[in-house]
Amino acid sequence: MTLEHSIEPAAKTLLNADALLITAGAGMGVDSGLPDFRGNQGFWKAYPPIAKLGLHFSQMSTPKWFHQNPKLAWAFSGHRLNLYRKAIPHNGFLQLLETAKSKKGGYFVFTSNIDGQFQKAGYDEDKIVECHGSIHYLQCIRPCTDDIWEAAGIEVNVDEQAFEALEPLPQCQNCGLIARPNVLMFGDWAWNDDRTEKQEKKLLNWLDKVEKAGFNLAIIEIGAGTAVPTVRIYSEVIADKDNSTLIRINPRDIDVPNGHISIPLGGAEGINRILKIVNFS
Ligand SMILES: NC(=O)c1ccc[n+]([C@@H]2O[C@H](COP(=O)([O-])OP(=O)(O)OC[C@H]3O[C@@H](n4cnc5c(N)ncnc54)[C@H](O)[C@@H]3O)[C@@H](O)[C@H]2O)c1
Ligand SMILES: [Zn+2]
Repeated sequence: MTLEHSIEPAAKTLLNADALLITAGAGMGVDSGLPDFRGNQGFWKAYPPIAKLGLHFSQMSTPKWFHQNPKLAWAFSGHRLNLYRKAIPHNGFLQLLETAKSKKGGYFVFTSNIDGQFQKAGYDEDKIVECHGSIHYLQCIRPCTDDIWEAAGIEVNVDEQAFEALEPLPQCQNCGLIARPNVLMFGDWAWNDDRTEKQEKKLLNWLDKVEKAGFNLAIIEIGAGTAVPTVRIYSEVIADKDNSTLIRINPRDIDVPNGHISIPLGGAEGINRILKIVNFS
């Protein structure tokens, strides 16, 4: 299917939808100026100091650094926290929210992004699942309790040259040990998934209501990669149900199951081109 032939059916799918599930990977942030981590080259391009250390994303994003070298661990996490705090969500977030809010069955977001950009763009906190957690929340590295607390008000200063976070590093409020982001890392047995689990329960509840009402569900997926395919698989599993259609927006990883729609564009442009037709119909 060519691009011209897929925009039209995507618009029709959104028009006919009673409910909207938005799924997103790191590619959703690219048009807001945030890096994705496509392959080692992509990761190293975003973090040259980590290229010098020769570490892959899966080797850098592990809880062991918070124990062995907390200044390095917090250089990486602190840099990302500061970047995501400063970022302004691109227009596609806002356009999609307007459409989502117009649906009688409402909307939900399922994302592996830890960057908090959906909340920043005005999406309802109660309608978002962050399946890998959020960098805007912290927990103890041990953890000594199952407390999760907001990172708001906590500043992390990073010496970018040395790629070291400066003291004081974020601390556990209870035991005084180092704190870490409440995000799922590689080889991570200490991640507290309580927040994500609560979010997932709400999503399951909503999906149940959508199904019982016999609603048409459109799933619009933006920028979900193939290396950690959690979001892609989730979109496909939901799309496999009756009355559900997947629209996959991705400039490169364009494969989509039969009967579903692939839009080989960047997120902002893809959303804009589809919604232009939706809004004028
Ligand atoms: N912003 C974030 O929170 C963030 C950023 C990087 C990585 N991560 C984490 O790393 C893992 C990476 O998985 P992933 O699949 O999300 O990222 P990924 O970097 O592996 O893949 C990014 C995907 O986005 C696509 N893409 C590139 N430019 C795009 C654009 N302008 N518009 C739309 N799509 C575009 C790429 O083709 C690719 O398929 C996840 O576990 C995630 O938690 C999070
Ligand atoms: Zn503690």
